[in-house]
Amino acid sequence: MSTEHLIPSELRCAHKVAPLAVEIDRLSFSWVVEGPGTGRRQTAYQVVVFDAEAAVPHGAGALWDSGRVPSASSTDVAYSGPPLAAACAYGWKVRVWDEAGDLGPWSDATTFETALGGADAWDACWIGLGPGRSHFDVPSGDGPVDAVELAMRPAPYLRRAFTVQGQISRARLYSTALGIHELSINGRRVSEDVLAPGWTDYNRRFLYQTYDVTRSLVEGENVVGAVVADGWACGFCGFDAKHRGAHYGRSPQLLAQLVIRFADGGQERLGTDDRWRSSVGSVAYADLLMGERREPAQEPAGWDRPGYDASRWRPVSCRPLGHQPLVADPGPPVRVTEELPAKSLTPLGSGKFMADFGQNLAGWVRVTADRPAGTLIEVRHGEMLSPGGTLYVNNLRTARQRDTYVATGAAAELAPRFTFHGFRYAEISGLGDDPRPGDITACVVHSDIPLTGHFECSSADINRLHSNIDWSQRGNFINIPTDCPQRDERLGWLGDAQVFARTAAYNRDVAAFFSKWLDDVADGQLPSGAFPDFAPRLDHHWAGAPAWADAGVIVPWTAYKMYGDRAVLARNFEHMVAWMNFLAANNPTRLWTSGLGNNYGDWLAPKKDLTPPELLATAYWAYDASLMVEISQAIGRPEKAGEYAQLAQEIRKAFQQAYVNHDGSVASGTQTAYVLALHMGLVPEAMRTATALHLVQAIAEEDWHLTTGFVGVGYLLPVLSSNGYSDVAYRLLEQRTFPSWLYSVARGATTIWERWDGWTEERGFQSPRMNSFNHYSLGSVGEWLYRFVLGIELAPGAAGFDRLVLRPHPGGSLAYARGSFASVRGEIVSEWSRDGTRFKLDVKLPPNVAASVRVPSARPEEVMGPDCAGPVAIADYPGAIGQKEAVFEVGSGHFSFSGPGLPPSAMV
Ligand code: BGC
Repeated sequence: MSTEHLIPSELRCAHKVAPLAVEIDRLSFSWVVEGPGTGRRQTAYQVVVFDAEAAVPHGAGALWDSGRVPSASSTDVAYSGPPLAAACAYGWKVRVWDEAGDLGPWSDATTFETALGGADAWDACWIGLGPGRSHFDVPSGDGPVDAVELAMRPAPYLRRAFTVQGQISRARLYSTALGIHELSINGRRVSEDVLAPGWTDYNRRFLYQTYDVTRSLVEGENVVGAVVADGWACGFCGFDAKHRGAHYGRSPQLLAQLVIRFADGGQERLGTDDRWRSSVGSVAYADLLMGERREPAQEPAGWDRPGYDASRWRPVSCRPLGHQPLVADPGPPVRVTEELPAKSLTPLGSGKFMADFGQNLAGWVRVTADRPAGTLIEVRHGEMLSPGGTLYVNNLRTARQRDTYVATGAAAELAPRFTFHGFRYAEISGLGDDPRPGDITACVVHSDIPLTGHFECSSADINRLHSNIDWSQRGNFINIPTDCPQRDERLGWLGDAQVFARTAAYNRDVAAFFSKWLDDVADGQLPSGAFPDFAPRLDHHWAGAPAWADAGVIVPWTAYKMYGDRAVLARNFEHMVAWMNFLAANNPTRLWTSGLGNNYGDWLAPKKDLTPPELLATAYWAYDASLMVEISQAIGRPEKAGEYAQLAQEIRKAFQQAYVNHDGSVASGTQTAYVLALHMGLVPEAMRTATALHLVQAIAEEDWHLTTGFVGVGYLLPVLSSNGYSDVAYRLLEQRTFPSWLYSVARGATTIWERWDGWTEERGFQSPRMNSFNHYSLGSVGEWLYRFVLGIELAPGAAGFDRLVLRPHPGGSLAYARGSFASVRGEIVSEWSRDGTRFKLDVKLPPNVAASVRVPSARPEEVMGPDCAGPVAIADYPGAIGQKEAVFEVGSGHFSFSGPGLPPSAMV
């Protein structure tokens, strides 16, 4: 115990640090508690919210003072004070009482701002390029122009000059687009965000971004400028290239409002309206799938600054606000998060070079070039090379991923801003002689989701696998969780997202990201209650597919488990209930045999998918029902919890009657059938041992290879490790021959492939019709690395990492594993090593987290814990049949454990 106080830090509101616009119904607070010593705990807290401009020192005159709330809660603490005004800045801070009842000091104060409010808060209309001819309606330069390029149009440039009088105290720019946009004030970009406002179903909702522009404005003349490109709204989108602009609109538009507050209390609002002027500039076209064309010579010099003569610019088109709500963006922005210079540049002849960045990624390439005026510089992007060393682009389908620039004759840095590509290689033409690798840089683009997970072990291949998983997350968490970032698809498939969600949340902070996307999922729900197969769902009505649509329950539940976020459950609850009603109405026998939608089954199982689709579906329905029990309890709906417990029981019974045999085997005998039955609690308790053995036999029959597709794979290793077979899990993980995770690693993969056999020595590339090299689904094994190898696992019934069962599963060839997870309650560290027969474990826990540490051992009574104390109990170790574990109960602090290790596995 320590006499030092606990201090809250890392204050967040709605999962963000000092957000500039939060919708009132998303207002919630969280913090991490810091303090030295062991066994530290928060026993009560006090939050105060005050008017940020009134500078209240210590709670006096607060708008809301929670008073002392006896609670260990440090996440998802809801605001429950008087109504807050829209578009206002508030301060907040928190202090906590520790395990001895001692009160600590206030945290540093931070701020949040409330959202702008409903449609009447906008004194603005949608504006776009007004009628008139552009100086390059057809792209110029010396390259050929084809039908796709002809279908595209220059990006509108929009500007408004205005005068500011008086001393500004605070200025905010609220903006969104039908398309994607970038804003500047007096020639300077207002933020580093790219691809804003991201993708929603624009027929149902627009998200707006909020920028602090207080320091960008000056007294006197100012200019706000915008470039608006097609983006998801008006460009080629999804997997049918005929659909340019057909989903939401044909020409991009901007909606923005500048709100300036003056020191004298006055306020001015300046929205997009008919006082704006429009033209075109250097962006000849920009499309997410096809690429961007820039003609820098066409940039109207100084257009975005005061003093520019815009008399020849056209009026703008104006359209009143529609019915769609305008909502403050709850998600993280998309940004360039890293730059990778080309690792090598290989000359291909005729001024062409192949750049290899050594890493498959999503983003774009920046080229530094100095070429004669009119020279066309072209950058084509691909994930792989063909055997002859040329760029492999067949798997892109109709996506072109091609950026072009018409040189001006001056040295320039050339990069697109309104597109993105999936690539490791870029073929660049038009460069002339010998570019240096430093002239060619890959800019990595994705949602700004901070890293929270670290994993390292003694196997370089597994470390690479872990890195590949994270890179596939980075390549696909671009405003929504997509399947892939390169071909003409890039859709927010729900099946992929649900199998990967837990891994994603260990790797990176995705609380805000999923909070945003779950609104897209809700928007995509059909009136029948069926969740869509992908969200946003464009104009497709695909919905209700087993293991895809179930993401509507599984992803909010995962967010709750990982972040302790009850609000995400409450917000989505009625949608989940509608989904459960849809399933129940269609399936009175309690087997999910009707309303299966596109029924993808165990998608991309390496052999034929032999798992009966109704078995898979029914297992997922039972799983939904059991999660709904926990969800209903978490949000205080016991009557619903009872209803779903009953339903879960009925489905379980129907499943057992239809699919479970007396010997514990499950119909079809596929690995996926066993994995689902075990993971989803569908075999009678007394049969679990037999069923698990059947699973192991099914794996042994494949000579220790997996046969699971997207759906079975996520739970495969967790099920093995939870049922006595961690050794089998390791054997699968370390398998190098096809199909296996290390198969692609051994072939130089730097991301997770869509298919186990995306490329093989025997056949080369899989069918180009569906062969992405950057698809995170099969990377769902990542959660096993954190939850089982490191053992950083929630205690049963826990959410938000308040209680852990920290149980490492040593095994395979690993001599050590170490890693950490920055949870919502602070960083949890687990490091273990095996040296001869000794096993050593180091654990670090932040305050307010308690763990039951479990050390597997051949002689658990000899395991030593902190202060040379022995275990408080000995229990069965679930990772290996017949083995035991030493149990220690600890609170916060740094603890070491050591003792005899496990005996070598007899099985594999
Ligand atoms: C996507 C998948 C998706 C699937 C539906 C594919 O085209 O790339 O990841 O889940 O379709 O089965």
